[in-house]
Amino acid sequence: MLLEVEGLDVRYGRTHAVRAVSLSVGQDEVVTVLGANGAGKTSLLRALQGMVPAAGGQIRFDGVDITRMSPPQRLQRHLALVPEGRQIIISLSVHENLLMGAYCRHDAGVSRDVDGIYDRFPNLAARRDMPASVLSGGEQQMLAISRALLAKPRLMMLDEPSLGLSPLLVERLFGLLGSLRDEGLAILLVEQNTQMALEVASRGLVMELGNVVLEGSADALRHNDRLAAAYLGHAAPAAGPVSPPATPPSSNGRA
Ligand SMILES: Nc1ncnc2c1ncn2[C@@H]1O[C@H](COP(=O)(O)OP(=O)(O)OP(=O)(O)O)[C@@H](O)[C@H]1O
Ligand SMILES: [Mg+2]
Repeated sequence: MLLEVEGLDVRYGRTHAVRAVSLSVGQDEVVTVLGANGAGKTSLLRALQGMVPAAGGQIRFDGVDITRMSPPQRLQRHLALVPEGRQIIISLSVHENLLMGAYCRHDAGVSRDVDGIYDRFPNLAARRDMPASVLSGGEQQMLAISRALLAKPRLMMLDEPSLGLSPLLVERLFGLLGSLRDEGLAILLVEQNTQMALEVASRGLVMELGNVVLEGSADALRHNDRLAAAYLGHAAPAAGPVSPPATPPSSNGRA
């Protein structure tokens, strides 16, 4: 396995946001983490990125214990995060934002890879020297993903990339994720768009209050009645391992 997480805990003072979570992602696998607002999904990704410390447990990446490594050290090992809310710096140009993704690299291939990004995303190429503030939400998400790609990730983690995008752009985004998967990139995808996430992923986990309450193949999860009731808007059966969130998650994100 490329990523192996065992018994990971994240705490903020008295809040126990991630509780003994174990998961793995294989070399060319897409795994999705689902769950309602406040389930601990972002905390999990931030602990994997190194922005918040692990209060317990172990993270192994490519066979190496990275639990105590800094975020730049993890990025150098080609573990990249596309953060919640994209975190584009809107006062910098598109090009400057893009280059930030390569700040940990010391090889000579950066400019060739930047050209590759511009070939892939003509909208970004056309706005290369403009401030990132001119980009639409969908273009900003492409920029955030491109920035992560410039770190030459072996595993790309994405935190709710579809949030705030129109249905058409959500389609395009998931098309891109499918292409990256087909090119051999391993992906750990946090999403509230359960249906789309289970189409691109081969396996999934459902978090609730910091715990993994359900996991299985994408196919099994798609046909899981409780998950359907909680996240896919189907009729709710009486009992099961996943309880529905207090308020149904809207398709475009938090209330
Ligand atoms: N910096 C922080 N300090 C204190 N508590 C936090 C912090 N970040 C998150 N929390 C708490 O940790 C819990 C998990 O939050 P987290 O953001 O990881 O959930 P999430 O699943 O990503 O939710 P969402 O779907 O809203 O993005 C919540 O109870 C939240 O209030
Ligand atoms: Mg979150």
